[in-house]
Amino acid sequence: MSLKQPKILFAAYECAPFFKMGGLGDVAGSLPKALKKLGVDIRVVLPYYRAIKKNYPRLKKIKTVKLATAAEQLTIDVFASRLPNSEVPIYFLSNKYFDALDIFDADSRFRFILFSYLITRVGEILGWQPDTIHLNDWHTGLASIFLKSSQQPVKTVFTIHNLAYGGDTPLTTLSRFGLTAADFSLVKNNSVNIMREAITASDIITTVSPSYAKEILTPEFGCGLDDILKKRKKDLYGIINGLDYDVFNPVTDKNIPVRYSFQTINRKVTNKLYLQKISHLPVNEKIPLLTIVSRLAGQKGFDLLESIVTDLLQLDLQLIILGTGEAHYEKFFKTIGQKYPQKVSTQLIFDPQLANQMMAGADILLMPSRYEPCGLGQLAAMKYGTLPLVRATGGLKDTVINYDGHNTATANGFSFTTYDSANLLKTIKRATKLFPDKKIWQKLQANAMQADFSWGPSAREYLGIYQRRSAART
Ligand code: GLC
Repeated sequence: MSLKQPKILFAAYECAPFFKMGGLGDVAGSLPKALKKLGVDIRVVLPYYRAIKKNYPRLKKIKTVKLATAAEQLTIDVFASRLPNSEVPIYFLSNKYFDALDIFDADSRFRFILFSYLITRVGEILGWQPDTIHLNDWHTGLASIFLKSSQQPVKTVFTIHNLAYGGDTPLTTLSRFGLTAADFSLVKNNSVNIMREAITASDIITTVSPSYAKEILTPEFGCGLDDILKKRKKDLYGIINGLDYDVFNPVTDKNIPVRYSFQTINRKVTNKLYLQKISHLPVNEKIPLLTIVSRLAGQKGFDLLESIVTDLLQLDLQLIILGTGEAHYEKFFKTIGQKYPQKVSTQLIFDPQLANQMMAGADILLMPSRYEPCGLGQLAAMKYGTLPLVRATGGLKDTVINYDGHNTATANGFSFTTYDSANLLKTIKRATKLFPDKKIWQKLQANAMQADFSWGPSAREYLGIYQRRSAART
């Protein structure tokens, strides 16, 4: 029996390159392309934020729809485009609530609940009815509750990209959509954890690596939701994210000074010298160059770095940081940049072009995460022959093979297991000591660059999930 190709609406609050704040944006901008290649009728929907209007002023308006919600008559303008290098349609829904300067302002809860609601009425809005809606994180998760209460025969796949952000929303906000306490599995302090509700109400739950799928069943990683995840265990899948090699590829990357492949790996050093120069560090190919390209959040393990920084900067190495985030870590990295200008360079900005230059120019990418659902940085680094140095957790554990002194044939980076600053320091010492051994280093680079972290196999797993659901229910 051949299975019918499913019709999928892919909904997320961000989608690269139109609007990107983190890894979810990369996934939304690339997984649908891979699914389209498998013949899936997949379309993406996003709010039409002010930032998108500004950066993409010429998007085509395809229609205006008037929609009655529980509270009001809403006018929605629909704009359309395609994901770059693909035939995947992307629709941008515009209304008076989505046009905010900062999408995470005080109205953000209302904004994302409204978006979640509109997702469930996409048949009326677009004139196209999906049979499965693929939701991502809390910002779109409540669509599963709206679908349940309206008894629509649409299946839901809910992907957890980061369990820690639950999107707690007061009942008063939810009541503006006609929802009451009876619609939810748990109301605590007059507030609802959207992540919990999406996990409870969706048909299938996935997360972005096999290891994280196991970890979130434990109290340590479960963010208080491990019990309900355990209840849904038979519908929970861990599928590793892929990387968009249209965007991250040293052979074709227009953002980097010199392009290269493993066959021309000797050219990589030119990118390093360039990076040292623009970072105002001593230009010297012999000094191991470490980089951090990340949201500067507690999740990422920077507290470990904080406690070893004095010892670390005694070593002969350089460190370049690129990212924005929590004030505490911004200050920490800024301070060490000022205190050790010969060794540390800090760029507190979000800059995808510079991020690729870091991937191309550095020798080692640091990701000592406390937890990491998947992590895309290590995948990008490997493609550029920059060896990841990570804590073995979640997706980092599933993708980075630690060099143990013997496994030259398979290792593609460095890792440590126990979350402890002494372990991090030891691992950095181990990696920088190996760095002058060009023969082994290049073998590890070959392993990293030749590993396949494209979307192909994971997209096929998602397709299997969509088809299984459709076949089982019809
Ligand atoms: C979140 C997670 C990260 C993951 C990304 C995409 O940002 O923290 O680990 O790679 O989502 O799924």
